[in-house]
Amino acid sequence: MSRIAYVNGRYVPHGAAQVHVEDRGYQFADGVYEVCEVRNGHLIDMRLHLDRLDRSLAALRIPSPMSRAALERVLKETARRNRVRNGLVYLQITRGVAPRDQVFPPAGTPPGIVVTARALNSAARQKAAAEGIRVISLPDNRWERVDIKTVGLLPNVLAKQAAREAGAQEAWLVDANGFVTEGASSNAWIVTLAGTLVTRPAEHGILRGITRTVVMEEAAALGLALEERAFTLREAHEAAEAFITAATALVMPVVQLDGRPIGQGAPGPVACQLRQQFHDFAEICP
Ligand code: PDD
Repeated sequence: MSRIAYVNGRYVPHGAAQVHVEDRGYQFADGVYEVCEVRNGHLIDMRLHLDRLDRSLAALRIPSPMSRAALERVLKETARRNRVRNGLVYLQITRGVAPRDQVFPPAGTPPGIVVTARALNSAARQKAAAEGIRVISLPDNRWERVDIKTVGLLPNVLAKQAAREAGAQEAWLVDANGFVTEGASSNAWIVTLAGTLVTRPAEHGILRGITRTVVMEEAAALGLALEERAFTLREAHEAAEAFITAATALVMPVVQLDGRPIGQGAPGPVACQLRQQFHDFAEICP
């Protein structure tokens, strides 16, 4: 089936979708993005993703290319045209096209917008969750504003590749004080031996994940204790369980850290319950 991409106002065949060579996203990573889950044909937590998009755009002073209602229509329409029932939509907005110069282009330069959608293999995702994933740790060498969801992801790319080459699926990034910040493309969690969920507070050191926000609400509703505080690798090694959260992974159990098993070395009951019941707490877009 042919894929379709939305590029600057037009739906075009994915293979022919192009942006200009002087798009500032391409030249300076001067842009922001969102990834939203599609489940049973519905967008999940779109409102929260678009709220965060607004915050990212405002932080970088990039004007929104269209109204919220129009953006919602494009996201849904891109998922629909690609016949994605279960998968992801990807949205990227850049500061637009201008002759290469670090300073902002003239006011009125239209921002660039691209939306794509793709299906994910539900069975493969379920299998990954049933097995759990392996994680390695690496120094966090990103800039200070990782709370902005920019397309400047080179440290994340290198960390993810290092994880892959080490036989792992994610890298947990560690700050100068020895505390885990987050994963290369996910938020990091542990469950202590006493059963308390621990995840880093969403200040500037991490991206405030939408999945993280929903899991916090879920944990409260399920009566699970939660501490929003930074944790060390040592605490993670001694934890009963660990997991990551992201729109692409939902709640994904972590069974190994730097080659050593976490807990029983198998997906833990808390992570499994949070995964199973996640969509009871997420917002399903009509
Ligand atoms: N990444 N932290 C980082 C660095 C991320 O890149 C992501 C998501 C998250 C989790 O955010 P959310 O729960 O809103 O998906 C945390 C997306 C999925 C990606 O880059 O593919």
